[in-house]
Amino acid sequence: MLVNSKNILLKGKENKKAIFHFNINNLEWAKNILLECDRLYVPVILGVSESAVSYMGGYNVVYSIVSSLIKDLNIKIDVVLHLDHGKSVESCIKAIDAGFTSVMIDASKESFEKNIEITKKVVEYAHLKNVTVEAELGVMGEMSNNDTKFGNLTNKDDCIKFVKETNVDSLAASVGTVHGLYTGKLNIDYGLIYEISHNVDIPLVLHGGSGLSNDVLKKCVESGITKININSDLQDKWSKMVRSYLESNQDVIDPRKIISSGMDALKQEIDLKMNINN
Ligand code: G3H
Ligand code: ZN
Repeated sequence: MLVNSKNILLKGKENKKAIFHFNINNLEWAKNILLECDRLYVPVILGVSESAVSYMGGYNVVYSIVSSLIKDLNIKIDVVLHLDHGKSVESCIKAIDAGFTSVMIDASKESFEKNIEITKKVVEYAHLKNVTVEAELGVMGEMSNNDTKFGNLTNKDDCIKFVKETNVDSLAASVGTVHGLYTGKLNIDYGLIYEISHNVDIPLVLHGGSGLSNDVLKKCVESGITKININSDLQDKWSKMVRSYLESNQDVIDPRKIISSGMDALKQEIDLKMNINN
């Protein structure tokens, strides 16, 4: 069933269990993530970036794909359809109007006050429609051309003020992770995660979960993270398997076979991540 993220995340926070957000790119990605999480019987958050929304054709298309898959595949788990890194109030409204059950407004590159102002607008609209909102504070690190641009970590006092003023439902505080397949020296501030989680009562979100071992992810959860976002690791494992399938099956032209050839790797990666909760 499609639900907002409120209860799932609060339950995860209470039980110190990670709730996973996996980004989707197309119908096959959504289908296989849903099937695997349903097999494991764990709730899942399907994250869709603005670029993935455009790739798939629009917010209504994404909603139709996900809601129809849940229905036709008889998916029994709770599923959150979430706009990932929404760049504006307008894109969050479009996602909400199309049926997304959760949105992230990422105004982290704005000033602190402007971030509050923008996030507040989204929260006001979203809460009227029973949609949950995630916001970001501090700036995430990014990988670009194998180079790492470290972000700016946030701090406890800003988090307390931000949560109080915006009434947001979950918070992506920048704590030292990096988006993409980061392999460099880790810079995660576990003490900061602990401090923030003990001073705000909403669930905390870890962006840039790829490239981190299960031990590291576990330590983040023990320190106070509830939601873990994973994108690049699934893409990496899927594309490696597709590449090797194509090399040994040069005559195959059926796109269904080609796309499906990587799905076992994607599912194995989901299983691996889920192990941190055992
Ligand atoms: O918002 C999405 C994530 O933060 C994914 O980051 O590609 O490093 O897993 P990742
Ligand atoms: Zn992210």
